Amino acid sequence: MNPKIAEAVNEQINIEFGSAYLYLAVSAALDALAMPGAAHWMRVQTQEELNHAMIFMRYLIDRDEKVSFPAVKVAAPKIKCMADAFNAAGEHEKFVTNSINRLAALADSEKDFMFMNFLRFFFTEQLEEEKNTKAVTDRLKLAGDSHNAMLFIDAELATRPEAAPNPTGAMPAAAGPGA
Ligand SMILES: [Fe+2]
Ligand SMILES: [Fe+2]
Repeated sequence: MNPKIAEAVNEQINIEFGSAYLYLAVSAALDALAMPGAAHWMRVQTQEELNHAMIFMRYLIDRDEKVSFPAVKVAAPKIKCMADAFNAAGEHEKFVTNSINRLAALADSEKDFMFMNFLRFFFTEQLEEEKNTKAVTDRLKLAGDSHNAMLFIDAELATRPEAAPNPTGAMPAAAGPGA
């Protein structure tokens, strides 16, 4: 495997674990704000991010490359309300999308089409995650300063289905837009 790509995938694994850590910190902040539904939503996202890390790790293992485990360094954002939490999530997902874009650019310049194909799943995921966080941000804007509306949104967020752990890092089968 191309060493530049192996290094970049290792960096991405670190970013995905960092994402999990960030969402977990945001989740704890939301619990402290008495928003258990939003906190639950963020913990489901934590699991999603752990699954992303495992899928990237599986790719390195399958291609007979070493996985490195540098320290995960994440500055937990300051969260004073639900809007802060979802704005932070939205900004973070844009950062991750840029990172996946950089991986694709590298796959292209290094002519690693197997890696390019592998990345398809992550573009689908990023589309979904940017869309999901924006949907909540938009509803929070409608809620304005209404505590009633915020409690209603919190109850909605509590219904987010759990994400199944993916400890083997198997690529999910049905990865299509909106999946
Ligand atoms: Fe991710
Ligand atoms: Fe994400």
